[in-house]
This record gives sequence, structure tokens and C-alpha cells, in this order.
Amino acid sequence: MKVIRSKAAMQRLADRLRSQGRVGFVPTMGFLHEGHLSLVRVARKRCDSVVVSVFVNPTQFGPEEDLEAYPRDFGRDRRLLGQEGVDVVFRPDAETVYPDGFATSVLVERLTRGLCGRTRPGHFSGVLTVVAKLLNIVKPDIAVFGQKDAQQALVVGRMVRDLDFDTRIVVAPTVRERDGLAMSSRNFYLTPEQRRQAPVLYRSLRLARRMVRDGERDAASVKLAMRRLIRRESGFRIDYVEVVDTGELQPVRRISGRVLVAVAAHLGRARLIDNIIMRA
Ligand code: PAF
Repeated sequence: MKVIRSKAAMQRLADRLRSQGRVGFVPTMGFLHEGHLSLVRVARKRCDSVVVSVFVNPTQFGPEEDLEAYPRDFGRDRRLLGQEGVDVVFRPDAETVYPDGFATSVLVERLTRGLCGRTRPGHFSGVLTVVAKLLNIVKPDIAVFGQKDAQQALVVGRMVRDLDFDTRIVVAPTVRERDGLAMSSRNFYLTPEQRRQAPVLYRSLRLARRMVRDGERDAASVKLAMRRLIRRESGFRIDYVEVVDTGELQPVRRISGRVLVAVAAHLGRARLIDNIIMRA
């Protein structure tokens, strides 16, 4: 497995890999867990070579967010990626990605207004700008994103479509701990007590599914029941509980067809997100 730090070397190697077969790409911010590794396995299955990037992207963190504290352990990441048979790890530094004079940012309208976009202004532009750069450097056939970050996956897919990137976006299922908590690098921030409480977010999503299965169609009633369940655990600061359509992520009043039920909440130092897609 090669670890590459320079853009030019990554571009040269990616050109060579592409001439030999299909290239799969998984962008990450490191501190890898089973969720990331499942994305790598999807890329591995569909492609001849796999490139993974490890870069904690400063532009997607707000001024009050956890950029400095974001967990990092490249030695461990490298070992895990080696075990997965990854061909190349691209690990640029911030000056390589954002050299002096860098002044461009990518914006996807509408889809980024709600959900995480509402309380994290600038976040998706930061994500899109770095993903656009990484896709231009690696030029993969496919790039794999996780369903846990449903809005991110959709927004990246829209950018790729609107700007004619020659890459297909593949979305892989959320990987959960045994008690249902969606895997996330930020779970690392949870104290043992908060770790015990955190799965209530997934339980609230399952409650939504049960209610809809039992015939409930009023989104407000579903959201209220979810909020009540989460509030039974102390310490949560709910960011949003939403039911939106899966195309434009607009809130729905009446649940019919395919919807995304999404939740985000702060618990101690961690901001946790989760979602499910269901059909009424
Ligand atoms: O999902 C993430 O880890 C990041 O948002 C990504 C896609 C690697 C961009 O920095």
C-alpha cells in the first residue's frame, strides 16, 4: 500500500491505475471505524484498485466546532487500510489542498438549506469543495459515501451530476454497533454514560418506522413522539428531528411514498446524526 502526500504524485499514480482498470475512491477524515471499512469493501468489490483519502478538512468545520479536537490516529488508519487491501492512501496536508490564494468554493443550492445545513452554515460548501478537488485529483470511476451522512451523499451526488464529474456516487448502508448506534468517529467523544444513552437516536427512528407501519401519516405526530423518546434520556440537545422527501430534502406534512427520517442531537462533546429511509 502506497501512502502519497503530494497532489502531482497522486495524479500520476491515479492516471496509471485508471489505465489498468476501474478505480474506486473512499474519501475520509481518518480515525477509521467499521463504517469506513465497509465503504472500502464496497469499492474493493466493484473496482480493480482502491484509493482512500485521509484528510481532516478544515473548511467544513464551523468556528465553534471540533476541528482541533477531531480524533486522529494515522498509524492505526494505515494498518486498517493495509488489512483491507487498499492500494493507495492519499494523505495531503492542508497547504497542499488549500495553497496560498485559494479562493474557490462549491455551493449546491436548496438541498443544503435544511437539516445539517441549517445549523452548520458553510459546512456543505466545505465538504463539496474538498470532494470536488479530490475527485479531480483521483478521477475515480466510483466514489463511495455512507448513508449515515445522507444529506452529504445526496448533495455530493447533485454536484457530480450538475457539474458533469465523470464519477459515479455509490451510497453504502449505515453500519451500526450492536445496540443500534450508528458508527461515527465522533462516538469517541462520548463518556461511558453518554455511550449508554446514545442509541436512543436509533430507537427514535425505529419508533417512527413502527408508527408509520401502524398507519400514522402525520409527520408532526411522528416527530413529536421521536422527540419525547429522546428527551427521556437527559443531556441531549436536539438539533433537528425531520421527515423530508428523498429528492429535495424538503419537509413533508403527510407521509407518503419514500421519505427520509433524520435526527441530529448534541450529547456532551459529540454531535450525533442518524437517519432511515422508509416507504409509506
Ligand atoms: O464524510 C466525511 O468524512 C467528510 O465529510 C468527507 C467526505 C471526507 C469530506 O471531508
